[in-house]
Amino acid sequence: MRGKFITFEGIDGAGKSTHIPWLAERIAARLPAGAKVVSTREPGGTPLGEDLRQLLLHRKMHLETEALLMFAARREHIAEVIEPALARGDWVLSDRFTDATFAYQGGGRGLPTARLEVLEAWVQAGLQPDLTLLFDVPLETAAERLAGAREPDKFEAESRAFFARTRDEYLRRAHQSPARFRIVDATRSIEAIRAELEQILATL
Ligand code: TMP
Repeated sequence: MRGKFITFEGIDGAGKSTHIPWLAERIAARLPAGAKVVSTREPGGTPLGEDLRQLLLHRKMHLETEALLMFAARREHIAEVIEPALARGDWVLSDRFTDATFAYQGGGRGLPTARLEVLEAWVQAGLQPDLTLLFDVPLETAAERLAGAREPDKFEAESRAFFARTRDEYLRRAHQSPARFRIVDATRSIEAIRAELEQILATL
C-alpha cells in the first residue's frame, strides 16, 4: 500500500520543527511491519538539495531565480526521496514543501501566483500532500521565538511586513484546500498541541 505524505508549514518562529520528531515516532509506532517514517525537509532532503539550500538561505539572488531553485531542489527531492518512499509504503514527513514557496516567494516577495502554479503542475505532476499541518502564530509570537536564536538566515532576517504577507498567503492556501490542511494554533503549550496532533493522526 502506498504511504502517506505529510507536510509541515508555518512562518519562521511558529515552532513546527519541535513537533516533527515526536510525530514521526508516534506514526512509526503505528505503521505495519516493514514500513517506516522518512523525515525530510525543504529546501534540502537530497545531497543536491542541501547544496541548493545553502545558496538559497545565504546568497542574494533574483526573486525568480529563488523560486526556480526552490522548485529545482523539489524536483530532485520528489524523484530521489519522496516518490520512492511512498511507493515502498513508507510515510514521508517533510518540514516544508510547495506551500512554503507560495507563502514566501509568492506572498512574502510578491511573485505572481500564476507563475508558481505553472511550476507546481510541472514539478509535482499531480503529487500533493495527503495532509498539511499549518502551525499558525501571530507575528509577535514568531518574532519572540526567533529572537535570541542563532544568527538569522536570509529569510529569518526579513521584515515584519514580509512575514505578515507570508502568513496571510499560508492562511489563504489553507482556506482554499480545507480537505488537505489542518491549521494548528501553535501559540498553545507543547502538550496541548501534541494532544491535537494525536487526534489528527487518528483520522489518517
Ligand atoms: P526552515 O528554516 O524552516 O528549515 O526553512 C528554511 C527557510 O526557507 C524558511 O525561512 C522558509 C524558506 N523557504 C522558502 O522561502 N521557500 C520554500 O519553498 C521553502 C521550502 C522554504
